[in-house]
Amino acid sequence: MILVTGGAGFIGSNFVLDWLATRDEPVLNLDALTYAGNRANLAALESDARHVFVHGDIGDRALLDRLLAEHRPRAIVHFAAESHVDRSIHGPGAFIKTNVEGTFTLLEAARAHWSALEGEAKARFRFHHVSTDEVYGSLAPDAQAFTEDHAYEPNSPYSASKAASDHLVRAWHHTYGLPVHTTNCSNNYGPFHFPEKLIPLMIVNALAGKPLPIYGDGMQVRDWLYVGDHCSAIREVLERGRVGETYNVGGWNEMPNREIVSQVCALLDELRPSPAGPYARLVTHVKDRPGHDRRYAIDARKIERELGWRPAETFASGIRKTVQWYLDHADWVAAVQSGSYRDWVARNYDKRSA
Ligand code: NAD
Ligand code: DAU
Repeated sequence: MILVTGGAGFIGSNFVLDWLATRDEPVLNLDALTYAGNRANLAALESDARHVFVHGDIGDRALLDRLLAEHRPRAIVHFAAESHVDRSIHGPGAFIKTNVEGTFTLLEAARAHWSALEGEAKARFRFHHVSTDEVYGSLAPDAQAFTEDHAYEPNSPYSASKAASDHLVRAWHHTYGLPVHTTNCSNNYGPFHFPEKLIPLMIVNALAGKPLPIYGDGMQVRDWLYVGDHCSAIREVLERGRVGETYNVGGWNEMPNREIVSQVCALLDELRPSPAGPYARLVTHVKDRPGHDRRYAIDARKIERELGWRPAETFASGIRKTVQWYLDHADWVAAVQSGSYRDWVARNYDKRSA
């Protein structure tokens, strides 16, 4: 089996669902169920014996040792993290705790487990670290997209904590020989995306007739990748990636935030027109994010050259599926908009005057 950490979050749950839909190898899913973890994402696996869910923390070494000894996974795919940049600005401590200390604890447990393996089991063990393009910092408008050799220049507490975790993973390979891969991916979107992030926030706010808050001038550029394509990239690297290597993963799809919001509004106008008029009427420019990175862009040629991976979805096809998913899953949306979600929205947006 494989051990997945953070498999109740956005990308992790998509990964677990896709994995079990395409192969029979069981998944041990370790997740602390923070505000971002949601067992409802995994409801389709409730009676599937191939999915073993454990509610626990990657910082709990005793738990990790017990799980590794009991289940003897052939690989660890490490998603668990605090992932939201705005939350890292309000409270960086949790990011250091999980992304840095938690990854350290997981690496140490993985090293002990792998060191005790022998023969074929030892040779094929892999630790796959899921990371972000944000570790490379911000690009000028005309600069080349990030390659794997780009210097690390993280600018937010979130990206600094992910950069630290990438460095730990690299060092555990270089010093101890732990067989690792790291993938650095751009912005994902798709089903089960928690509505604190740009795309799902815009969809749920628009449907509720609430303002669509664009930070600053909205001309910040991100590269967008459908989550299923990120999951297929991880599977490729896990099976065939070179040990010790990093691979950038992206959608070849750079777009400014204003354009993203405008496309979401246009799709909602088509699929769920509002009697009050076009959804774009709700767009509001609000105070910018402190330290806001202006542009990210991914050069994903290495993973294509070495492993033949390219995204299957275009932005047009992926965003249509995504908007339709939110329209079809109003219950999921209502359930995640709990008291703590409303507290977060108030905390992040109430002081951003238009
Ligand atoms: P998410 O916030 O939706 O989910 C994170 C999951 O990790 C949650 O289920 C949460 O409960 C769990 N978790 C948090 N702390 C934990 C701990 N201490 N122990 C065990 N579980 C814990 O995040 P996501 O968007 O799914 O991102 C997953 C990974 O992918 C992260 O490492 C993130 O840095 C990386 N990534 C995300 C994106 C993106 O666009 N969302 C892009 C590139 C890379
Ligand atoms: O690049 C990969 C990263 O993408 C991942 O590592 C992170 O985990 C993930 O959260 C995401 O980070 P971003 O900060 O780019 O995503 P977010 O959806 O928070 O914001 C996308 C852009 O939209 C960013 O420029 C900020 C802007 N934005 C965001 C929100 C929530 C707004 O203009 N208004 C908003 O309300």
